[in-house]
Amino acid sequence: MSNIGSYEKRRENFSWDIAKEVLKWEEGEILNIGAMCSDRICARGDGEKKALIWQGFGGKQKTYTFNDLRVLSNGFAKFLKELGVEPGEKVCLFMDKIPELYVSFLGVLKMGAVAQPLFSAFGDESLEVRLLSADTKVIFTTRKHVKKVRKIQDKLPALEKIVVVEGNPNKLRDEEIYFSMEDFRTEDFTAYESGPDTPSVLHYTSGTTGQPKGAQHGHGSVWGQALTTSWVLDLKDDDIYWCTADPGWVTGTSYGIIGPWSLGVTQCVLDSGFTSAAWYQFIQDNKVTVWYSAPTAIRSLMRDGEGLVKQYDLSSLRHLASVGEPLNAEAVIWSEKVYGLAFLDTFWQTETGSMMITNFPGMKIKPGSMGKPFPGIVAGILDLNTNEPVTEPGTVGLIAFRPGWPSMFKEYVKKPDIYRSKFVGAADDAMPAELRVDESLWYVSGDRASFDKDGYYWFVGRDDDVINTGGHLVGPFEIESALVEHEAIAEAAAIGKPDEVNMEVVKVFITLNPGFEPSDDLELNIMNFIRKKLSPLAMPQDIEYMEKLPKTRSGKILRRYLKALEWGHDVGDLSTLEDD
Ligand code: WT7
Repeated sequence: MSNIGSYEKRRENFSWDIAKEVLKWEEGEILNIGAMCSDRICARGDGEKKALIWQGFGGKQKTYTFNDLRVLSNGFAKFLKELGVEPGEKVCLFMDKIPELYVSFLGVLKMGAVAQPLFSAFGDESLEVRLLSADTKVIFTTRKHVKKVRKIQDKLPALEKIVVVEGNPNKLRDEEIYFSMEDFRTEDFTAYESGPDTPSVLHYTSGTTGQPKGAQHGHGSVWGQALTTSWVLDLKDDDIYWCTADPGWVTGTSYGIIGPWSLGVTQCVLDSGFTSAAWYQFIQDNKVTVWYSAPTAIRSLMRDGEGLVKQYDLSSLRHLASVGEPLNAEAVIWSEKVYGLAFLDTFWQTETGSMMITNFPGMKIKPGSMGKPFPGIVAGILDLNTNEPVTEPGTVGLIAFRPGWPSMFKEYVKKPDIYRSKFVGAADDAMPAELRVDESLWYVSGDRASFDKDGYYWFVGRDDDVINTGGHLVGPFEIESALVEHEAIAEAAAIGKPDEVNMEVVKVFITLNPGFEPSDDLELNIMNFIRKKLSPLAMPQDIEYMEKLPKTRSGKILRRYLKALEWGHDVGDLSTLEDD
């Protein structure tokens, strides 16, 4: 029997308070994600249960119980307090998927500070804009990644402490602190009494224009994360769960830490590069039962074929789900054929904090559809011109949600106007000064879709120019800004270009400064320049040289025109594009 039982019945009788029942949480208990994922699980008698089964490069294994999580995160919390960190201040976690990442995340939240995890493959420029924007006070990193922090620390006035939590402590600079979590096991720490709106996790997400925005979540997000984990991922007490996402991105925290651990479920983490064989071996060795992954990975597994699948015992698997990009029908059908289980597609965003539209255990799957709104979520498709909800099945419009679900983001850090612009509706006049949003508005996701006569949602595409490569959003503006810092480049435009596995990869159009000529060397040089500054995700896979870039009359580069050409879409009426 699945946790959700009947989708229709759950929709009829829905209340977010059911999350409290699922978590066995009683009024008056602590609402602090750090404590709920460790102390509470120990208090209910599961301290010796395995919480984390971790595997690194070369097969190195470590296992942690919930009691380990409790005393180790206590150590991080106490240490931060002693450093003088106050509740609400930002602490960045910048490391690979090592145990310290997961434990420090809980420790930061436990003492009331804000956890700001950043993808460890980020280059110094990606790191700099996000630390600067958040006024980050402390960064936890490793010997391997500290060099990138050193490069930018002088440009970050708010950054007071650099703490290295792993790797050889020799050769650290005097002002850098070495912290080995095993030496700081701490029995007692009183967790910060947070409320649902107390800031918890801060994730940066890229848009079309400007630098990435910090989407701030609150501790109350746990209700949404726990309930969706229970009803969609169907986690039960004896499951061995594997979320393949990196906590540098929201899936890796909402469902790679908070969802499973608040419920006291064992999870495993693989911190080594992707190969299909290594993944199957990992599932076999750890007897993974529930697996949450992404379409790009699934397409890579498909490419390696059914023969490889047969070499492993994957019979422990009982439930699969996917997020991050459109899950194509072929991938669903293939997974059903080779694993005997279809990947269930789930749709949500950094801003939503938890799943919004998904397929559910036991529900009829229509391969290629994202499924139906989670019970308690009011979803709609808004007309592209009027922003009014459409009623006719098959009409393509903007995916939107009525505000009010517990894990909705609270703000974009220091960008109240952009936050407000994500909501449309009639309540403008009634809006209090602090730009509060209410249920009379729609939160607009920035994606296009339609629903069919049975209420299933079908993804169409993004409504903006943000590039989705392998389930990761990359902002064209960030790439373009970095490109023009290269000595050879005068102007640049970045778009997503179709790719069989990653859905999209970055393609850039550039004009060169006088004295520079196109060459293979230059191309390689530009690619590396972006990889180092931003990340491997942002690295252009294709560079096209142009004499001049197409522009509007006001001088804005016509990215959409380049994209339409690249995708073979109708370029449309150029005069309207020019007025953009
Ligand atoms: C964007 C959000 C939240 C998980 C990781 C991404 C795209 C997400 C799906 C899906 C089609 C999807 C959308 C969305 N997306 N899930 N099931 N089907 N597209 O979080 O980085 O905030 O990206 O990813 O475009 O807006 P994110």
